[in-house]
Amino acid sequence: HDPNAVGTTTDDLPTLPTDRHTGCPFDPPEGLTALSDEPMRRMRYADGHVGRLVTGHAAARATLADPRFSSRYELLHLPEPMEGMPGQIPPAPIGDIIGLDAPEHTRYRRLLTGRFTVRRMRQLTERVERFTKECLDAMEEAGPTADLVEAFAQPVPALVICELLGVPYSDRERFQSQVATLFDQTADAGAKGDAHTALLQYLGELVLAKRAEPTDDLLSDLTTSDLTDEELAGIGGLLLAAGLDTTANMLALGTFALLSNPDQLDALRADPGLAAQTVEELLRYLSVADPLLRSALEDVEVDGTLIKAGETVTVSVQAVNRDPRRFPDPDRLDIHRKATGHLAFGHGVHQCLGQQLARVEMAVAFPALLARFPTLRLAVPPREVPLRERSNIYGVVSLPVTWDQV
Ligand code: HEM
Repeated sequence: HDPNAVGTTTDDLPTLPTDRHTGCPFDPPEGLTALSDEPMRRMRYADGHVGRLVTGHAAARATLADPRFSSRYELLHLPEPMEGMPGQIPPAPIGDIIGLDAPEHTRYRRLLTGRFTVRRMRQLTERVERFTKECLDAMEEAGPTADLVEAFAQPVPALVICELLGVPYSDRERFQSQVATLFDQTADAGAKGDAHTALLQYLGELVLAKRAEPTDDLLSDLTTSDLTDEELAGIGGLLLAAGLDTTANMLALGTFALLSNPDQLDALRADPGLAAQTVEELLRYLSVADPLLRSALEDVEVDGTLIKAGETVTVSVQAVNRDPRRFPDPDRLDIHRKATGHLAFGHGVHQCLGQQLARVEMAVAFPALLARFPTLRLAVPPREVPLRERSNIYGVVSLPVTWDQV
C-alpha cells in the first residue's frame, strides 16, 4: 500500500505518529522512525489538511534553510488537535519572533543576537557554576533522595533566565507555573490565555522598572534600542518560554538517559572532558523540542519532492536526529560519536538563539551532578518514571533519584 499513490483518499493518509508507549522512553514513536525511507511523505493534519511529514535529515535541512517556507503561525495547520484551536493558529503575539518571517524577524533577531555578547555569556557561565553547586549542596543536605526535576533541572535554567532578564531569582514563582501552562497541551485555551496575560503583565512591569533604573542585563540593554515597551515585554516572554522548559527537560531526561546507560555514564564520569560531546549526543538522542512546522509560500521542490504552495510541512526533529543515513546506529546513545549536525536546535534563520547558553548550562550541570553523587541512581523502577506525553517539550514530570550517603 503506497500512501502517496494517486487515488488514495485523505482518510487513508497517516497522521503524525505520537504513541511512545512501546519500549524505550527515549525512542521516538515507532511509526516515525519506520519512515526513514520516505523522508517527505504525505500526512493528514487535524483539520483534514493534506501536507507533509519530514523525517529525513537532508530534507529537513533543505526545508528549514529555505525562505520559501514560512514560520508565520497563521499559515500553519496543526498536526494534532489542540484545545480551543480548530486547526489553525492565530498570528504570533508581539515579540514572539519564532512565528515571524523576514524582514520583521530579521530586525528583532539582529537586535537580540547583538546583546548575547561574549562578556555576558562568560558572566553567566560563572553564575551557572556557582548556582549549580548551591543546588547540589541543598540536594545533598535534604537527601539521600530527591526529585531531580524540582531540585536541579528546573532551578538551573530558571536562574539563567532570571540573570538574563535581570530579575531576582525569588521572582521565578511568578512566571514558572505560567510558562508550564503555556506548554501544557492538556491545558484549555482559557487557562493558557490567563497564563499569557499574567506573564505579559509581569514582564510589562519589569520593562518599566528597567527603563527607570537600568541594570547590567539583557533586558536593560534592550531598553536602549528602538523597541517599544510592548515589544520588550513580548521578547521577555519569548525568552522565558523558550529557555526554561527546554533546558530543564534536557537536564532531567538527559540524566534519566545516562542512568539508563551505565556504560556511557561511567565513560563520562571517568573523563569529564567528554562533557561537551555528551551534551551534543544527548541533544540528538532526546530531541526534546519537536516538531517544527513551516508553510510553503509557493511551490517548492525539496529533495526531489514537489511541495505545493499552502501546504504545511511538519519537520520531525526526533526522526531526523535518528536518520540512519546521517547517524549510523541512531538508536544507540553513544557519547563518543560525532553528534554535531543534529537539528535539536533547529536550522536556518530561526536556529535557537539560546543554544550557547543551553550548552553551557548542560556542560556544567551534568558533570557536577555526577561528581557530587557517585552512586546516583533512580529511586523507582524506570517504567514508573512519569513522562511528559502531552507537551510540546518532551521530558519527565519528575525524576525520583537516590544515592548512598557518605
Ligand atoms: C528557537 C530548541 C534553549 C531561546 C529554538 C528552536 C529550537 C530550539 C528547535 C527553533 C524553532 C523553530 O525553528 O521554529 C531549544 C532547546 C534548548 C533551547 C532544545 C535547550 C536545550 C534555549 C534558551 C534560550 C532559547 C536557553 C534563551 C535564553 C530561543 C529563541 C528562539 C529559539 C529566542 C527563537 C529564535 C528565532 O526565531 O529566531 N530553540 N532551545 N532557547 N530559542 Fe531555543
